[in-house]
Amino acid sequence: MRAILDVRQKVAALYNRFPYPNYPLLARPRWQDGFLTSSYFAGRLCAQDVRATTSPRGDVLVAGCGEMLPYIIRKWEPGGTVVVNVDLSGRSLGRGRVRTLFCRGASEFHEQDILEFLEVCGARGRTFAHIETFGMLHHMDDPLPAIRAMTRQLAPGGTIRVMVYNSPARQWIHALQDYFSVILREQLETDLVAAAHMARRILQGFAETSPLVADRIRAIGPGTMKNPARLADTFLHPHELRWPIERWFTGFSSAGLRLAGLFDRYGELDDLPNPLWNFHTRQDTAQDTAQDTAQDTAKLLAERAADRRFEGNLEMVWTCPAEMRASEKIPPRDARHLSRLKFRGPPHIWFEFEETRHLSVTNRIRIWHAFLDANKIGAEVWGKNDRTLQRLARLGAIMPDQLDAPRALIAARKMEDAMSPPELPRHMPLARDGDTGPHASALRTLDAALSQLTSRDQA
Ligand SMILES: C[S@@+](CC[C@H](N)C(=O)[O-])C[C@H]1O[C@@H](n2cnc3c(N)ncnc32)[C@H](O)[C@@H]1O
Repeated sequence: MRAILDVRQKVAALYNRFPYPNYPLLARPRWQDGFLTSSYFAGRLCAQDVRATTSPRGDVLVAGCGEMLPYIIRKWEPGGTVVVNVDLSGRSLGRGRVRTLFCRGASEFHEQDILEFLEVCGARGRTFAHIETFGMLHHMDDPLPAIRAMTRQLAPGGTIRVMVYNSPARQWIHALQDYFSVILREQLETDLVAAAHMARRILQGFAETSPLVADRIRAIGPGTMKNPARLADTFLHPHELRWPIERWFTGFSSAGLRLAGLFDRYGELDDLPNPLWNFHTRQDTAQDTAQDTAQDTAKLLAERAADRRFEGNLEMVWTCPAEMRASEKIPPRDARHLSRLKFRGPPHIWFEFEETRHLSVTNRIRIWHAFLDANKIGAEVWGKNDRTLQRLARLGAIMPDQLDAPRALIAARKMEDAMSPPELPRHMPLARDGDTGPHASALRTLDAALSQLTSRDQA
């Protein structure tokens, strides 16, 4: 128990110092880019009646909400849905509350550990139509009880959207986390801001010496280096589980959930059948079969993570098994809410790929409106190009219920025969011969861990 409290306190301290993702309070984010967070998207993926996905059908829980998701999800959910935000960090909740002040619909804010919160919900019989938990579970001492508790509090047919780290792809980050935990020990306990600034300077210095570090830092993008909250979240975290992919999949499926879709944000899984749709048609299979399918998927991902063909995080939607669903009475569609969504432009990510970049503004808007209405959509919209259709389907811009059977088959097919792993540049040692300073051994340990990443490729 003491260890659990220790983890919670350290995690709360980090996010109280650096609420995540720490965007300016007056910034007006393009909330429609957060379509993946919505109960609408998860419901569509699980082949639910479209009326059920656009009407208030139960509360939505945001587990480990941080400071931005309370706003984004409030914008996505119909006014009649209560958005229930839970986080260990009071400061993140405070910022989330300010952002939602002028939004339609009710929001709740609870400064509590998620497991404790769910236990109270269990005692009071409170359930949720949808649970969003992005980037939280891997910061818990043991996420399995929380996964089981979330499943228990899901309403029939409920959905969970989750992101957890793809740990095998983060070995270089783990090596740096271990290094900083030694050399910045004092600052990490007394002054997190100073620790973040020092870590940034050190990383910049390392990148000048080691092409490997320079390459990896480039790959995570300038946003992480510039934003101290993201830098601390990545490199200075007091508690990040390093679980193999299979362990997460076992955790979710043994709780009684089944995989509804896997979001391939960077198009790394084009040699697999559409991973977002792959499970959509299998919702009625027995739970044992669904567990086997989930394990097969986990194995495929683990193989690809091992040679870096797959570096993205695990972004998944899970749902209750079909036999747990009850026939719900669906309230009428919230038409005003839908019009407000339509008024905004479509998510950027749909049109950032080579197969979709060329689409005209008119066709982008048609795709967006058809997505929101769950209307059928024809080949003229994607320029009759199968690869454009396939990419849009992998990004969730076109869902299975919008296509006739032959086109749905095309959209579900793999796009490539094989994907090749990215080549990593070599690591150049950061420790100098004869270094004997107090941190020399930490630097040598770091060198050894980083060199191993590329030596495995050459072996
Ligand atoms: C990386 S941030 C992600 C925030 C938000 N989900 C997002 O994607 O922007 C992780 C959040 O989970 C919260 N968290 C971590 N462990 C938690 C726990 N046991 N109970 C509740 N919240 C927790 C942290 O305080 C932090 O705000």
